Amino acid sequence: MASADIVRQMGESVRPLSLSGHVGFDSLPDQLVNKSTSQGFCFNILCVGETGIGKSTLMDTLFNTSFEGSQSTHYENRVKLKAQTYELQESTARLKLTIVNSVGFGDQINKEDSYKPIIDYTDAQFEAYLQEELKIKRSLHNYHDSRIHVCLYFISPTGHSLKSLDLVTMKKLDSKVNIIPVIAKADTIAKNELHKFKIKIMSELVSNGVQIYQFPIDDETVAKINSAMNGHLPFAVIGSTEEVKVGNKMVKARQYPWGVVQVENENHSDFVKLREMLVCVNMEDLREQTHTRHYELYRRCKLEEMGFKDTDPNNKPVSLQETYEAKRNEFLGDLQRKEEEMRQMFVMRVKEKESQLKEAERELQDKFEHLKKMHQEERKKLDEKKSVLDEEMSIFNKRKAATELLQGQAFQTAPQMNLKKDKDRKNY
Ligand code: GTP
Ligand code: MG
Repeated sequence: MASADIVRQMGESVRPLSLSGHVGFDSLPDQLVNKSTSQGFCFNILCVGETGIGKSTLMDTLFNTSFEGSQSTHYENRVKLKAQTYELQESTARLKLTIVNSVGFGDQINKEDSYKPIIDYTDAQFEAYLQEELKIKRSLHNYHDSRIHVCLYFISPTGHSLKSLDLVTMKKLDSKVNIIPVIAKADTIAKNELHKFKIKIMSELVSNGVQIYQFPIDDETVAKINSAMNGHLPFAVIGSTEEVKVGNKMVKARQYPWGVVQVENENHSDFVKLREMLVCVNMEDLREQTHTRHYELYRRCKLEEMGFKDTDPNNKPVSLQETYEAKRNEFLGDLQRKEEEMRQMFVMRVKEKESQLKEAERELQDKFEHLKKMHQEERKKLDEKKSVLDEEMSIFNKRKAATELLQGQAFQTAPQMNLKKDKDRKNY
């Protein structure tokens, strides 16, 4: 029987029972709270926005502290990501907060690849988590999770529209991270212009298919506030750590010659809305979405890239073990095939070399035979010449001997000869 059938039957046979006395498992939610409180929480924010747009000031204002950090220059030759982790405590809750800042964003003349370092950074954090998950001995309970839970995207308060750099960057990021767009330095834009600007930004995001984070409305307790807040996006924020006396209270504000802009005054900016949504209501949802949506997508793509699948080509479910075995067999088959190919190639090469050597040997033999023949012919010719010479020499020797004999006889008969010569001369 298929395992799915068993599960369904078990599910169908679950019967609700009432308890006749206290058991104690109603403390489970408290146990969870205690465990989480003692473990502490971690939250990672990525701030993407042009140099000097107010990223650091907003972070300081949001968390009511002063995170150390220096100003960036406008002369970075490429975008860099700078991460810093802090330990914060509010009553019993401990928060390990990492703030990652985009340094030099929007400062290069060629902004084509400005989004790349940001994508690489978010992917690297997913990869580190995946590697920890895939370890045999994993320690995820005390693993410092560096995955980005939210990206605050700082939009310049131009009042016009989004820049193409904003659209490209957000589009590239939207499947990897929860994006909350904010209009920075909102005190520099007039109220009626701000309203139009917000509508323009949202319509541009929709028409370019950019998915920004939507505050969840499936949980009844926060559905109302979240759906109302979704209508206020992008939040127009103001940052300031300066305290100004308004009435008899000290408030965070920015002071101008014509008046005071109060950060936490909802008529002046959406700062409170952002803090409420980001920190007080949806921090856990942002963490959860990061794990269940963005990380899940990264993990799925990565495992599929490595050849793992949940179903076979016939759409039948396959386990990781089966995929592994199939991959292993495929790999071993490949290896054997390659080995065989190499062996055959080797044999072929040896044969080729052998025939080449044989050919060379034959050529050498032919050359040798030819030389031998030539040598023999040469020798024959020489022998013939020698015998001719020998013959000539013996004739010569014979003649020489005959001549010597004749000369010897001539000496003896010289007087007679002289007479004969005289006689002959007279005859002439
Ligand atoms: P880098 O980290 O150097 O890229 O800058 P940043 O984006 O962190 O900006 P930062 O917070 O250092 O602010 C830069 C300047 O803008 C400072 O002079 C701030 O006082 C000013 N500033 C910050 N927030 C606001 C704001 O909401 N309104 C106005 N008008 N000015 C602001
Ligand atoms: Mg800064």
